[in-house]
Amino acid sequence: MNMNAFSKKVAIVGTGLVGSSCAFCIVNQGICNELLLINKSHERAVGEAMDLNHCGDFTHSRTKVYAGTYADCKDMDIVIITAGAPPKPGQSRLDTLASAANMIEGIVANVMASGFNGIFLVATNPVDIITYHVWKISGLPRNRVIGTGTSLDSSRLKSILSDIIPVDPRSINGYSLGEHGDSQFVAWSHVTIGSKPLTEILKENKERFGNISLDEIMEKTRKAGWEIYNRKGTTYFGIANALTHLTRSILNNDHQITAVSAILDGEYGLQDVCLGVPAIITMNGIEDIVELNLNPHEVQQLGITYDVLRSNMQTIGY
Ligand code: LAC
Repeated sequence: MNMNAFSKKVAIVGTGLVGSSCAFCIVNQGICNELLLINKSHERAVGEAMDLNHCGDFTHSRTKVYAGTYADCKDMDIVIITAGAPPKPGQSRLDTLASAANMIEGIVANVMASGFNGIFLVATNPVDIITYHVWKISGLPRNRVIGTGTSLDSSRLKSILSDIIPVDPRSINGYSLGEHGDSQFVAWSHVTIGSKPLTEILKENKERFGNISLDEIMEKTRKAGWEIYNRKGTTYFGIANALTHLTRSILNNDHQITAVSAILDGEYGLQDVCLGVPAIITMNGIEDIVELNLNPHEVQQLGITYDVLRSNMQTIGY
């Protein structure tokens, strides 16, 4: 990997709404020196690069943005894949699997042909299966292929909770686990606010929070993407920020823990699957997976989300 402190390089493949929002976010946060944009329509990427470079007088550090080709991925630290099409009305994220898998094969083959030896960050849906696919095609070690997974769902969970219990979402700890999709679940036994278990807070404050339904909050978390989709046709700011957060964690070697889509090899008693679990993110990608001690109900929910993913993976030959 390059990881030269003086030259942090990131590529984004796909400059649609997710990719361009991510580029904007990365430039504003000033977390890398070079940002390469690759898009099927090269001219679109050129236009985005020009627009982003014109932010130059207003950002707090310089990011050189340029449009390029797959050959330019050779010395990138991170390649972010956002290419893909949102589901059509009535489709779930899983319904886009066949076309997304097909498109990803070409992208990953082209990136690897450049000599790329960095970290893949994947946002293309259905992200858990596509991340597994990227891992298989690329031949990279599993720690260097990361999907956005339930990072966004976990942030949504905190946002929803903070509307009910008036604290900053960043003071809430907890995760949605499993599929970035309809079978995900919240590990309630591990949700804390200011280190105090949520279940304890609810029990001790029956007058204030007695009518809170954890099932309803979990359903709202699962469906949050659809609530946005139904109103604006797609989502991009949340996922762009999740990608930027992970990019920053890697480039700064932060050791921050985020729920990501990780390829499991025995963790949680599962293997040959990629799904959302908390992981320590460093310059090596996934440094370690945090294995929460789930209660029996949560273990059952993990089994359900695993089955959903495994049966869909089979449709593309895994
Ligand atoms: C969402 C997309 C990224 O949930 O799946 O917003």
